[in-house]
This record gives sequence, structure tokens and C-alpha cells, in this order.
Amino acid sequence: MPLLEVKDLGVRFTRREGAPVDAVQGVSFSLEAGRTLGIVGESGSGKSQTVMALLGLLAGNGRVSGTASYRGKNLLTMTEAELNRIRGDRIGMIFQDPMTSLNPFLTIERQMTETLQLHRKMPRREARRRAIETLESVRIPDAARRIGMYPHEFSGGMRQRVMIAMALLSEPEILIADEPTTALDVTVQAQIIELLRELNRERGTAIILITHDMGVVAGLCDDVMVMYAGQTVEQASAAALFAAPTHPYTLGLLNALPRLTDEDDDRPLQTIPGNPPLPGEVGEVGAGCAFAPRCAFCSERCRESRPPLAAAEGYLDALRACHRPVAEIIEAQHA
Ligand SMILES: Nc1ncnc2c1ncn2[C@@H]1O[C@H](COP(=O)(O)OP(=O)(O)OP(=O)(O)O)[C@@H](O)[C@H]1O
Ligand SMILES: [Mg+2]
Repeated sequence: MPLLEVKDLGVRFTRREGAPVDAVQGVSFSLEAGRTLGIVGESGSGKSQTVMALLGLLAGNGRVSGTASYRGKNLLTMTEAELNRIRGDRIGMIFQDPMTSLNPFLTIERQMTETLQLHRKMPRREARRRAIETLESVRIPDAARRIGMYPHEFSGGMRQRVMIAMALLSEPEILIADEPTTALDVTVQAQIIELLRELNRERGTAIILITHDMGVVAGLCDDVMVMYAGQTVEQASAAALFAAPTHPYTLGLLNALPRLTDEDDDRPLQTIPGNPPLPGEVGEVGAGCAFAPRCAFCSERCRESRPPLAAAEGYLDALRACHRPVAEIIEAQHA
């Protein structure tokens, strides 16, 4: 049984004016213990709402549908009390901006020990010792002294490490990291990703990493789910996806990635033309493929009917939502 099995997840937001927004539609994935899954896609594609829905953290106007079984129990129908036992304990979460989840008025010690006292009923001294150990494990120098500091006294990179340490305190089985490095400079970014990789290898923590950066996925993830306008457009192992993306959108994301390995490759980076649809623009039943207006492979059929997510013929491992033959997309990569 997978640790986490998500089936046909949907998130719909009602709005005071206009039609409801289907921010996430028909998303399914499973996460085995110790595996790493990357969720990729441009801004607004539904990555964050997917994981927020799992943890019962949607805004008040949001409704979730589908199922999400954690160890066989549906997270989506749990009571707040049941969910609280899992959230922040068995499933840890790191948010994009550390300041949104660190309390600026409390020392790091207070914030860390409170979690342990609450979830684990640990005595104060033991909680403090464990907190220091965890800060050390994410390479915060001089942790025993720094634990007494306030969030603003840390640099951006160090604050992100504190966040990770907080998420790791209870040794969660699953760590969900939503764009954990976007606000950081490239060197710090690489260190944080390395830290996540170690965590996965050494403690066997399963990781869901949300990012818009394919390069980050390449460095960490076993499996990849590519989202566009609230839907999965391609889902495959990272090995398969990087060797041969089968969806035009994935191809576009990969072409927009600088090739660090190939120094004399001076081809200009290709960006995907146009912008993702605005909320509310997609989702009408009967509409075509959401990516069609920006797709170089688009045909009449793509504008008329939405392609379902299905096995990519010849690529056992991959699921794709595209009407065009796989061979055509693969061929274009070598043109
Ligand atoms: N409370 C809300 N009411 C209405 N629409 C919402 C609400 N919260 C999110 N949305 C919409 O849901 C869609 C998906 O948002 P989500 O935050 O999942 O995007 P994302 O892929 O994480 O993007 P980013 O990379 O910018 O973080 C967006 O179009 C967003 O505007
Ligand atoms: Mg997001």
C-alpha cells in the first residue's frame, strides 16, 4: 500500500462574482515510502492548492473532491482533530515564505519546543535538546546559541533551514515542500536541495517537492507530475521524462532550462509563448486542451476536445494528456 494515494482530486473555489474556479481537476498520484515526487508547472497551475487540499488548508471558499488516502485513511474526510494529529507530525510542510509560518514574536526555541510538547508530550528540556539536534542536522552553526534568537535575526537561507528543521522535528514520513527555494539565491538553493536529498536518502523521508524549476526536479525527484491549468498533462518517472518528454508543455519547460552540463551549447533559451490561462478561463465542459492556444503542435482536434490523461503508447512508464502522437513530440526534440 502506498503511503499516500490521491485519486481524482479536485479543488473548486466559488467566487462572489462569476463562475466558480476549478483550480485542480482530476489529479491522481501515489507516493510510496521513501520516494520523491516533483510537482511542476507555471504559476497558477494548481500545485499549491493540490497539497493544501490534502492537508485541509484550503481557503474558506474552496471545496475539495476525490480521495487522498494516507496509510489507507482518507485525509479529506477526517475531522480537524484527526487531521491535526497527522499534519505537522506525520506529514511535515515547508512553505515558500518562511515568515508566513514562523511567528516573528517568538524565539525559535519556543516555536520548536511547543510543537514537541504538544504532539509528543515531551518535557521541556528534552524538547530543547531535540530542537537543537534538529537545527544541527540542517547545518545551522552554533545551534545551541541561535535557538534563542527570533526569526528576523536569521538570514533568508538560515530561516529556510529553520523552517525545514521545524518540519523535521517530529520525523515525518512525508515532507511536502512548496517552492522551498524560490526566494533564495542560487548557492543557497543548491544547499537546501542537497539537504532534502540527504534527508530522503538517510532517513527515508518521502518528499513532495513543488517547483516551477525543472532543474530542481532533476536533482531530487524519482517521479514527476506536470500540471497545467489545474490538470495533470504528463506524469512519469523523472528518468523517462527527462530522456523523452511526451507532452508539448513538458518539452517547453525543458527547453526553457539552461543546460549547465553543456558549456558550449549557446542556443538561446526558448520560452513558451503566451501566458497560462487566467483563473476561470478553463474548466468549461467541452472546451479543448487548455494548452492549445500556446502549443506548437496544436491541431483542430485539440481546440475542440480535451485530451484525457492516458498511457503514452510505447512509453510504458508515462501518462500524458495530448492528442498528438508521441512520436511527433519526441521527433521535435531531436530536430
Ligand atoms: N481562495 C481562492 N479563491 C479563488 N481562486 C483561488 C483561491 N486560491 C487559489 N485560487 C486560484 O487557484 C489557482 C491555482 O492556484 P495555486 O496556488 O495552486 O497555483 P500554483 O501552481 O501553486 O502557482 P504558484 O507557482 O504561483 O505558486 C490559481 O488560479 C489561483 O488564482
Ligand atoms: Mg504555489
